[in-house]
Amino acid sequence: MPDQAVVPQLRVLITRQQIAERVAEMAAQITRDFAGQSIVFVGVLKGASIFLGDLARQVKLDATFDFISVSSYGNANKSSGEVRLNKDVDESMADKNIILVEDILDTGLTLSYLRKVFLAHQPRAFKIAALLDKISRRIEPVHADYTGFTIPDEFVVGYGMDYAERYRNLPDICVLPPDML
Ligand code: IMP
Ligand code: MG
Repeated sequence: MPDQAVVPQLRVLITRQQIAERVAEMAAQITRDFAGQSIVFVGVLKGASIFLGDLARQVKLDATFDFISVSSYGNANKSSGEVRLNKDVDESMADKNIILVEDILDTGLTLSYLRKVFLAHQPRAFKIAALLDKISRRIEPVHADYTGFTIPDEFVVGYGMDYAERYRNLPDICVLPPDML
């Protein structure tokens, strides 16, 4: 059954095939960049979980996983810029090659906060892998070292990303129309 049948208002923006091809390219680049070294994938819960799983399985390096959880004060659509760390990493980040895995780089407020937190731990390397980049929304000057797709300023769900915790399990990345927000 096509997934659109579940929620007919959703419009597919990036198909599962396009995601798979791009994630494979990103994984190949990470494999080249860190050849001969170990890396730690740090996923930002919950949105990055599916992306991290797909990406990490194609990276041909010695790797471990860790996860953090953050929330920004404000409501679902508007961030206040204040970020709270709900769950920190379990392992020490000192002298490690960290790849922070995030679903969407939007205003950049979350990642600029996380970048400060991680750099304070003195990793050997710190890179950001973001599946999506809404570049037109940027407030803080953050860029990802590995970017999947640049997308317009629309609210997307699926492939891990939610609206009010729903739609994370859709295999394609879909646009949620404004009247459903
Ligand atoms: P930033 O701090 O504004 O860059 O916010 C980034 C976070 O906002 C992402 O990690 C997502 O959790 C969330 N976010 C931003 N845009 C969307 C969207 O279109 N769909 C789902 N979540 C989004
Ligand atoms: Mg997120």
